Amino acid sequence: MVELDLRFAQQAVPEAEWRQLQPFVSDIHRRLHAGEVPGADFLGWLHLPSRTLADGIQPLLDAAAAIQEQADALVVVGIGGSYLGARAALEWCLPEYFNQLPRSVRGGPEVYFAGNHLSAPGLQDLLRVLEGKRVCLNVISKSGTTTEPAVAFRVLRTWLEERVGAQEARRRIWVTTDASRGALRRFAEAEGLRTFVIPDDVGGRYSVLTPVGLLPLAAAGVSIQDLLEGAHDAEEALATDRLEDNPAYRYAAVRNALHRKGKAIELLAFYEPALRSFAEWWKQLFGESEGKDLKGLFPASAAYTTDLHSLGQFVQEGARNLFETVITVDRAGEPLSLPSISGVEDGLEYIAGRDLSWVGDQARIATQLAHADGGVPNLRIGVKDRSARSVGELFYFFELACAASGLLLGVNPFNQPGVEAYKQNMFALLGKPGYEEARAALRERLGEG
Ligand code: PA5
Repeated sequence: MVELDLRFAQQAVPEAEWRQLQPFVSDIHRRLHAGEVPGADFLGWLHLPSRTLADGIQPLLDAAAAIQEQADALVVVGIGGSYLGARAALEWCLPEYFNQLPRSVRGGPEVYFAGNHLSAPGLQDLLRVLEGKRVCLNVISKSGTTTEPAVAFRVLRTWLEERVGAQEARRRIWVTTDASRGALRRFAEAEGLRTFVIPDDVGGRYSVLTPVGLLPLAAAGVSIQDLLEGAHDAEEALATDRLEDNPAYRYAAVRNALHRKGKAIELLAFYEPALRSFAEWWKQLFGESEGKDLKGLFPASAAYTTDLHSLGQFVQEGARNLFETVITVDRAGEPLSLPSISGVEDGLEYIAGRDLSWVGDQARIATQLAHADGGVPNLRIGVKDRSARSVGELFYFFELACAASGLLLGVNPFNQPGVEAYKQNMFALLGKPGYEEARAALRERLGEG
């Protein structure tokens, strides 16, 4: 099970302090499971692993096999919760640079992500990489109206149709969207595209264990059975309200206590490059869930040891308004022993023969000690390895912790009203019909009226 190590946070938050939150956590646990919390329409994630395993994943495996047959490259088109989980698990489970490896090693097509920005060069560069390859698209959007994926899908679909014709393109486009309401659902039905459903009761950032994450992961050769079993282990292990037995609630309680003591930022630190996208998933989960009503910890991330040579200075000696949560992976890969070389004056001969992971561990422990001594409380969350099972456990762990954290903070962790503000302005500036007045007002503010 996911391990929570509070050794380097004890001074900042003694055990008695987080234990005081037990009655609140117990109440939150009861209300979560009874569906009596704000945003209760979006609690489907709570039992998603057991529900999905019981329903079976054969249709997803069949679709994944078809994509593997059809494609040299799969492009996953989505933004926010509609791509971050898939990307996180993909990079967690597969070797770094997986797209450059021979297909026999990778197990599935190359995988690319689009629709998560509005950059023309970004999209054009992707089209250049796709040229000459057999391409499949998995377009993912619960609402079906999100601008970024809709724009990318227009471009990619047109590109695909120009190369293989409209009929073949329809065979190569897989749609993941809501069951009945969204615009993408209507389009998919009109075009006869193959679809998977995002359950109504699961919000975007909690959707990695739905077809949103499962289809691209299965197509890429990741075991979604293992992923779901890992999440299911967590679902069972974390079904208790007791802080001493439930590391997800303990993590929520400690970060809440740190926040009350003036910490404004939580820095998620990791030492494996393969966890970079996992940190992006985590940032969205906590940022959208907690940052509202003028409240919340700001979720940031640091890739160590890279960022020890940039952010490290700030973490050690800058404003004391942050704490760190370090993710560790016991066995991240194969051993790599440092060779002994004579005649090189790099001063490293004393560690020749040591495994590089051991060296990395010493760097991590040294950093935790230094940062804790410098006034940055350090939490550590540990998992066994880079298997699909472990990342499945961690997904569920953080989802539950995030829900409990948001509820402890007194916000609705399942909505994201704040993301509308930029969209309204953008639609007005783009000249969307119905936004004429807003457009005129914005242009005046910008001195263009
Ligand atoms: O968590 C969320 O709900 C959001 O991040 C959405 O996932 C994101 O905005 C994409 O929305 P959609 O799937 O409707 O395109």
